[in-house]
Amino acid sequence: MSLQPTPADKFSFGLWTIGWEGVDPFGGATRAPLDIVHGVEKLAELGAYGITFHDDDLFAFGSTDAERQKQIDRLKQVLSDTGLIVPMVTTNLFSAPVFKDGGFTSNDRSVRRFAMRKAMRQLELGVELGAKTFVMWGGREGAEYDSAKNVRAALERYRESLNLFGDYVTEKGYDIRFAIEPKPNEPRGDILLPTVGHAMAFIETLERPELFGVNPETGHEQMAGLNFTSGIAQALYQDKLFHIDLNGQRGIKYDQDLVFGHGDLHNAFSLVDLLENGGPDGGQTYTGPRHFDYKPSRTEDENGVWVSAAANMRNYLLLKERAAAFRADPEVQEALVEARVLELSENTLGENESYDDLLADRASYEDFDHEAYFNGKGFGFVRLQQLAGEHLMGAR
Ligand code: GCO
Ligand code: MN
Ligand code: MN
Repeated sequence: MSLQPTPADKFSFGLWTIGWEGVDPFGGATRAPLDIVHGVEKLAELGAYGITFHDDDLFAFGSTDAERQKQIDRLKQVLSDTGLIVPMVTTNLFSAPVFKDGGFTSNDRSVRRFAMRKAMRQLELGVELGAKTFVMWGGREGAEYDSAKNVRAALERYRESLNLFGDYVTEKGYDIRFAIEPKPNEPRGDILLPTVGHAMAFIETLERPELFGVNPETGHEQMAGLNFTSGIAQALYQDKLFHIDLNGQRGIKYDQDLVFGHGDLHNAFSLVDLLENGGPDGGQTYTGPRHFDYKPSRTEDENGVWVSAAANMRNYLLLKERAAAFRADPEVQEALVEARVLELSENTLGENESYDDLLADRASYEDFDHEAYFNGKGFGFVRLQQLAGEHLMGAR
């Protein structure tokens, strides 16, 4: 297995990731702005297949139509020169002062209408560039104070916007779907649709739920103390994994946006195993872009930006290689059987078994030896996890 990324690996990067200048709440830029043409050329050289962007990453908020078009033309030119594609676009409804109380859910109705228009304009550009996914990260859709936000009304307004976009792309015949990106907090104290679970439940309330899925980000679930792999497994199970943001996070703290693999490595290993190999009995895998949404640390100069971009892809490929070795190991196969991992895929009821049949089955209750589970019948999960860790560490 090669560790050299190629377009077949479907690695993509947000322009805002490599272009991050290092501004944080406590300090200004530590790097100069990165020209998009140069950025796209470098990513192509490193083996990426796609780039993604917010409207404001390509042309500054408030640009004239001519300035905007000039940047779009420059982007189109470098895409055609490098062969990179734009699998996803998104819109920035969080940086400009007008969005200080959110976009689609601002208490101010005129701001909500402006946000709808801004999103639709970027949607048009995405379709023009061939993007198949429109990500919605509602960073400012939230509040700091319970008294200041009617959450039920905010959700209703969110719905109103998403239903409008669903109608719009359907009536226009556009081949694009929407992916909601959850995050629990930052920049708002509390953000609406804070986790994968909240977002998936909300999607079911929409008029065209089939057009909406999720774009979960590693660090965002981990900021909430949740298991990212587990959330991704549920999104796959419900056919809602439309896109994914890969990065690294070390525990419950501010959003670190580290390189993929520089956070919880065990969880990154199980994630790549899931995306690449499906479940332990095979099953559904993810076929979309492997998108990195990270921030090259502000300690780095431009060289460090490219070192970190390459590290994301290399870590993914290393984990893919390790996961393949884990699945191919006969001892792992045996440990999976001992741990009864495959038995979970068997139906609990027999074929055509009714509740009357179950109630009549003495072996399942009256004669069942539940006491055997005390001081016996261990599952052997630790052995299995140790084998996973040894593969991860390259010890097997
Ligand atoms: C974050 C978010 C953002 C969004 C991006 C897409 O780190 O809080 O990931 O980077 O993904 O803005 O809209
Ligand atoms: Mn993030
Ligand atoms: Mn993200």
